[in-house]
Amino acid sequence: MNELFKDKEHLVRVAVLFAVGFLVFLLARALLVPKGFGDFGHYRAGALDDNRNRPLSYAGRAACGGCHSDVAESRKGSKHEKIGCESCHGPLAAHAADPGKLKPQRPDGRDLCLGCHVENAAKPAGFPQINPKDHGDAGPCTACHKPHHPAVA
Ligand code: HEC
Ligand code: HEC
Ligand code: HEC
Ligand code: HEC
Repeated sequence: MNELFKDKEHLVRVAVLFAVGFLVFLLARALLVPKGFGDFGHYRAGALDDNRNRPLSYAGRAACGGCHSDVAESRKGSKHEKIGCESCHGPLAAHAADPGKLKPQRPDGRDLCLGCHVENAAKPAGFPQINPKDHGDAGPCTACHKPHHPAVA
């Protein structure tokens, strides 16, 4: 028996390495796995609170209309009426909460429009699309189209 284990030093080294590795794993697990994980299998109920506590970036169009009723009014009956304000203006909860603190940039009156209206075979045929090379000129689309009521009468 002794004969069999006489050169056991290399085994001890491997065993120590494994033990250290296991301890590092336990430590990392204790630090990284969030509280409450495992209470209901892989579903962590605390994830709901985490998401609820994230700051809101979007105010929603109802909030915008409260102060910019002129804009909301000018969209009535237009094809853009149902597009959310923040689809074009970006997330503006901070502006809606305190307009003095954050003044929104005006969206680019060309890049913004082309993002939705540039011709593309993948779009439904009935969706209004243009080829910027043969429609309008190189300037902003807003030279002819009002963004809040785009039909050219
Ligand atoms: C509490 C009232 C209030 C709310 C809510 C509000 N705004 Fe405003 N908004 C203002 C005021 C006041 C200004 C003018 C700020 C200035 O000139 O410094 C302004 C300016 C703007 C401008 C810039 C206008 C310009 O002349 O360049 C845009 C765009 C805008 N708001 C969009 C929005 C959108 C989109 C929303 C909804 C997410 C929104 N606002 C919600 C009061 C409000
Ligand atoms: C289809 C995109 C689009 C939508 C949807 C949209 N806007 Fe705009 N809005 C623009 C663009 C582009 C401009 C800049 C016009 C310019 O520079 O002449 C603008 C300008 C404005 C301005 C500056 C003053 C003015 O009347 O030109 C305000 C305020 C504003 N938008 C508020 C709103 C609000 C509030 C809503 C929702 C009720 C909304 N917008 C929805 C594209 C949009
Ligand atoms: C977020 C996507 C989006 C953006 C950005 C956008 N549009 Fe539109 N636009 C639409 C949709 C959706 C319709 C309605 C399509 C339909 O009726 O099937 C539309 C309709 C139109 C129409 C047809 C109007 C009519 O009465 O027939 C014109 C013109 C137009 N947009 C121009 C513009 C211009 C100019 C801009 C930039 C200021 C712009 N759009 C930005 C989505 C967008
Ligand atoms: C010189 C003025 C002018 C400019 C600039 C202009 N348009 Fe137009 N646009 C018109 C007119 C007029 C119509 C309606 C008659 C027609 O279809 O030609 C129209 C129609 C449209 C339509 C509806 C097409 C359909 O199939 O119903 C869309 C979408 C549109 N434009 C988007 C844009 C976009 C995006 C830009 C900027 C790249 C732009 N326009 C620049 C004058 C202009």
